[in-house]
Amino acid sequence: MIITDLSGLEGLIGGQPDLAQAAGAYDKLMAGAYAGYDGWLRPGRAYDGALDRRLKDTAAEIRESSDVLVVVGVGGSGLGPRAVLDALCSPDYNLKKKASPNIYFAGDSLSAPELADVVSLLEDRDFSVNVVSKSGSTLETAAAFRVFYSLLRERYGDGGARARVIVTTDPEKGALRAFAEENGLRSLPIPPDVGGRFSALTPVGLLTAAVAGEDPCRLIAGAEEQLASGREEALRYAAARQRLYAEGKSIELCAFFEPRMRSLCEWWKQLFGESECKNGRGIFPAGAIYTTDLHSLGQCVQEGERNLFETFVRVTPGERLALPAWGYPGDGLDPLAGRELSLLGGAAVEAVKRAHMAGGVPVIGVDAGALTPESLGALLMFFETACAVSAMMQGVHPFDQPGVEAYKRNLRGALGL
Ligand code: PA5
Repeated sequence: MIITDLSGLEGLIGGQPDLAQAAGAYDKLMAGAYAGYDGWLRPGRAYDGALDRRLKDTAAEIRESSDVLVVVGVGGSGLGPRAVLDALCSPDYNLKKKASPNIYFAGDSLSAPELADVVSLLEDRDFSVNVVSKSGSTLETAAAFRVFYSLLRERYGDGGARARVIVTTDPEKGALRAFAEENGLRSLPIPPDVGGRFSALTPVGLLTAAVAGEDPCRLIAGAEEQLASGREEALRYAAARQRLYAEGKSIELCAFFEPRMRSLCEWWKQLFGESECKNGRGIFPAGAIYTTDLHSLGQCVQEGERNLFETFVRVTPGERLALPAWGYPGDGLDPLAGRELSLLGGAAVEAVKRAHMAGGVPVIGVDAGALTPESLGALLMFFETACAVSAMMQGVHPFDQPGVEAYKRNLRGALGL
């Protein structure tokens, strides 16, 4: 269960968060105010037994046939799988010796060196490709997929290449759907009523998790549990954000106190930025990893312009590590011998909160507890519901992204497409 802590607003806001307005928006959302866009509110229904079997069989085949899985996608189609993988397996997943394949990400930029780096990692190694795109026509994804598909055909021939591609896309429409049908490629569905940034709990994020050895059902169970019992906490977060925005806090710095949440932080930025920033309004979503970024952004937060608030996200990974005895008292840290790093981390959350509040920065706390597939599923659902509610309170459509489309049009024009 995710807990929202608003004690870090005390003395730093003039009025109270409008919980009644947030509750009204939440209930409208649940009652289907955005039917056609709200499939993510029913993660368990979309992820039924048949899909679970298909996804797990696909994951098992990839593990069997490949040393590497390349996941090609951008926006929600790249950040979702990456956020889930890094949170559960740590960003160092690929450095550790594991039974499951290495998992590399591509197709999230137009960088030749970045793509060439991934290609070079495939030399002498068997690989499969999971291309993820709801629309099927996103430039970065389509460009990278061409490169990897050509490589597959060169190495394994037409039939072999076909067997090593998994297309995750809309079940009915789009260029990638048509390509998959025409070429007999295996595919997994992104439900038509689930947009990119809300799709982490569909095959978009779940196939990668399954390939890494995690059970997708556990993420789904956590999300369902959050929906069943997390209404109050989600709407408190949404209402607090909107109250702070009304009081001139136009930047939210979402700080995760755990480096393995770095990709989730990127996912969070997309979720809130694309859903909320419209019509000349909206909270600018910025992200940080603490304590790392306290050594770069800390000064700015403590003493810079007072136009921001922070959200501190806490998760507790299972790993334990105690500091060894040292015996050289010069740095004054000897009393820490035998103490667990996670306890130091917990102390840091409180210390940073007090310091930043004293500097005039309101702090919202979001505590997800022990980091498990269930709590990760709950955290994703918590942010998704709070985001939709917050956008509704602000009076914008949470599920479109007209601003993103404008640059895409220009880019296609510039390329003569
Ligand atoms: O949230 C969204 O819908 C977008 O930001 C998409 O995630 C992003 O543009 C990628 O789109 P697609 O999955 O169609 O390739």
